[in-house]
Amino acid sequence: MHPARFTLDPAFTVGDVNPRLFGSFVEHLGRCVYTGIFEPDHPTADEAGLRQDVLDLVRELGVTAIRYPGGNFVSGYKWEDSVGPAEDRPRRLDLAWHSTETNRFGLSEYMGFLRRLGPQAEPMMALNLGTRGVAEALELQEYANHPAGTALSDLRAAHGDKDPFGIRLWCLGNEMDGPWQTGHKTAEEYGRIAAETARAMRQIDPDVELVACGSSSQSMPTFAQWEATVLAETYDLVDHISLHAYYWPEDSDVDSFLASAVDMESFIDNVVATADHVGARLKSKKRINLSFDEWNVWYLPRWEEHAKGIDQRDWPEAPRLLEDNYSVTDAVVFGSLLIALLRHADRVAVACLAQLVNVIAPILTEPGGPAWRQTTFFPFAQAARHGRGEVLDVRVDSPTYETRKYGEADLLHATAVRAEDGTVTVFAVNRGRTAALPIEVALHGLGVTSVVEHSVLADADPDARNTLADPERVAPHPAEGTALTADGLLTATLEPLSWNMIRLA
Ligand code: AHR
Repeated sequence: MHPARFTLDPAFTVGDVNPRLFGSFVEHLGRCVYTGIFEPDHPTADEAGLRQDVLDLVRELGVTAIRYPGGNFVSGYKWEDSVGPAEDRPRRLDLAWHSTETNRFGLSEYMGFLRRLGPQAEPMMALNLGTRGVAEALELQEYANHPAGTALSDLRAAHGDKDPFGIRLWCLGNEMDGPWQTGHKTAEEYGRIAAETARAMRQIDPDVELVACGSSSQSMPTFAQWEATVLAETYDLVDHISLHAYYWPEDSDVDSFLASAVDMESFIDNVVATADHVGARLKSKKRINLSFDEWNVWYLPRWEEHAKGIDQRDWPEAPRLLEDNYSVTDAVVFGSLLIALLRHADRVAVACLAQLVNVIAPILTEPGGPAWRQTTFFPFAQAARHGRGEVLDVRVDSPTYETRKYGEADLLHATAVRAEDGTVTVFAVNRGRTAALPIEVALHGLGVTSVVEHSVLADADPDARNTLADPERVAPHPAEGTALTADGLLTATLEPLSWNMIRLA
């Protein structure tokens, strides 16, 4: 096999990485909140009931914006249930996940969680535009952000939060195109309510950043027309349009699964084209950015099977739902999705790994027990740490392989980021399941002279995973033989089915 090749040159760039590209998502779903981040009886819990072992892992993961409180959950969410003295908060039916929501963890606890994570953590609050509307959105905004002297801002202070929360980034609903969404709407209906909500919110604060709901996936029957209709109503009022995408090996087709980023990149390109088309029609100079606020590997059919068996009379508290345990193969696909996001850093301004703990998450916990890193933890933590700066334009000339879903796909999927201090980090995936892939990277004008590190996530067993019994079974290891010549040629060999990070200084 001939080597896969590409060139890096600081004259050819994509754009700056917005730190929000490394966002995540905490939904009131299963055990993401309860016994995930919040477990007052846990041996490591602080006085606020937050698990310190989980906080440490979330910090290590390096997430930035954290979307909350849903997801599908938000379309039944009454924000006022989730504030004030915990003992007075009502228990409610959560229709989205057929559970009972105790509201023991609410808005103030979420803000406390972010504060404990540190200054890189930013709130991203979703509004209920499924069963509620403009008035409730405004009330929540006033409660959260108004300094003082009104009924709702004073109520916040009386609840113990004197300082406003300062929530800047808001999602105008969730997956409103999906028939599964409580209060599902047509594009016209949603476009109207999103525009009315946005207009009113900007009367309180013109500087809020607003995300309009795009499609729940590129395969939705309304895809593209939905975006065009919604943006025609909201173009001047919102900043971002959302995208959601989940991938799994459909019909056990692992080769196509490994090329999932082909779909993700075309989804991004198509949304950019649609948004820019609306902008052109409106003769607007403004550009709408993308908020890829749910993305991950998710074995969706397992949830659909589970959902069929749910006893409709049963409304459990924090049941075990969507607790996918990720393999090395999953982590390679996951890394490739991260690469896709970075490759589009010029337009993807926000991205949220769905979700953070237990629910399709990079971190798993046991109630009363340990917390540990899934295989997907590692690509995310490495990219969040070293993928900061300017993305260089990477055009690969790669050997290919055949996939059922996407036809011929490149074996190599790669991106590179140049940090402010001049160091360059290459992120690369070898999608090939059997053969190692040699790569050659020509470096022009970057001034890098040495390989600091080549870290690889791969395993002789592609199905290896980290479990309660063996939480450290899979971890990145150093690769051998990676070299940089004096005239600027980087050579490396990527193990079969591997995620790689090569740092140059
Ligand atoms: O992340 C799980 C669910 O996936 C979210 O609640 C919903 O928005 C999406 O369908």
